[in-house]
Amino acid sequence: MARRVRMGMVGGGRGAFIGAVHRTAARLDDHVQLVCAALSADPDRAKASAADINLPDDRTYTSYKDMLQREAALPAAERMEFVAIVTPNHMHHPVALAALEHGFHVLSDKPATRTLDECRDIAKLVEQTGLLYALTHNYTGYPMIRHARDLIASGSLGAVRKVVAEYAQGWLATPLEQTDHKQAAWRTDPERAGAGGCLGDIATHAHNLAEYVTGLDVQHLAADLTTFVDGRPLDDDANILLRFNNNAKGVLHASQIAVGAENDLSLRVYAEKGALEWRQPDANTLLVHHLDAPTQILRAATAHTSDASRAATRIPPGHPEGYLEAFANIYAAFAAAVRARNDNSAPPADAPDYPGITAALRGMAFIEAALTSSKNNAAWTPVSVD
Ligand SMILES: NC(=O)c1ccc[n+]([C@@H]2O[C@H](COP(=O)([O-])OP(=O)(O)OC[C@H]3O[C@@H](n4cnc5c(N)ncnc54)[C@H](O)[C@@H]3O)[C@@H](O)[C@H]2O)c1
Repeated sequence: MARRVRMGMVGGGRGAFIGAVHRTAARLDDHVQLVCAALSADPDRAKASAADINLPDDRTYTSYKDMLQREAALPAAERMEFVAIVTPNHMHHPVALAALEHGFHVLSDKPATRTLDECRDIAKLVEQTGLLYALTHNYTGYPMIRHARDLIASGSLGAVRKVVAEYAQGWLATPLEQTDHKQAAWRTDPERAGAGGCLGDIATHAHNLAEYVTGLDVQHLAADLTTFVDGRPLDDDANILLRFNNNAKGVLHASQIAVGAENDLSLRVYAEKGALEWRQPDANTLLVHHLDAPTQILRAATAHTSDASRAATRIPPGHPEGYLEAFANIYAAFAAAVRARNDNSAPPADAPDYPGITAALRGMAFIEAALTSSKNNAAWTPVSVD
């Protein structure tokens, strides 16, 4: 029986953005139950936030350290099984390490950490403990992204030649961080965000999507990072050239000063015999172009999509599924893996995958390489996790 896996949460209190998205995504398939949380670093806010979502007092914690210690002391059948980390970036490393040390699996939002070295610490502990680690690169959960990946892997379009990955936003086109805007404040603070601004916040999603869909690794890059808004200590715009391990080339454009852009994530892949085009605002459509045949408009949840793609949908074609459902696909996959691990059972043979510690390391290597390259006048720089 698919019992509910017990989740704890760190971060995601009143006024936070992504914590509530995680809670919704976790509940969508009824396979996860939030049993405890430390929702804020401020004890009063942590308590008030927990009351808002009906968490019992005895499972409401005012610090993540307290939560990990007290949960670890509970009987195995009661205690949380994994922790979801939805704090600003600087807390991902200490919380992930402490959770693994206390025997809990970890699901963290991205970027994994502030530096590649911090991420290596987590990777080492994941390996030593054998515990599970997921990183919520949620866009890999979209059904048409999964179809795109299967299509490239099938080889029917031939070898990939060029990838264009874009993630444009416009919300940081002004010094929003100088107002009372919490999310803008930590994202533009190197102490809390890490050394990449737009780079860590959204370029990492575009990088991850490019590697996920093509099955290729970015091996070298040349990055031109810019801070357009006066006084902002981190980049707010990134133009990056990519070289992949099969000699494919790529262009990655990410920006938070792209006035008018919302969350304009898109991916184009040009291969020898055809090409793919996907855009988040029309997430359930994938265009497939052919050298010598008309363009196909493929739609999610139809019989024309791959098994993995159809498995990532819940309702018939035409009913809009989107961001939350794609996010929930990561949760469904991770919950199945945690349940199988903790129940000593085999995960279902067709269990979908989720981005893990390798994606975490590759994302941090991408950030560090881009920072190094940009400091050296966009010099070609290796992307290496070693
Ligand atoms: N995958 C995505 O699509 C996506 C989207 C947005 C944000 N994110 C990531 O999610 C994370 C959070 O971003 P956000 O926009 O929700 O930030 P936010 O500022 O809205 O929320 C952060 C929350 O963490 C809490 N917090 C901070 N320190 C804490 C501590 N020591 N203990 C407990 N709680 C603590 C804050 O009180 C707040 O409730 C970031 O790493 C960000 O990069 C991912």
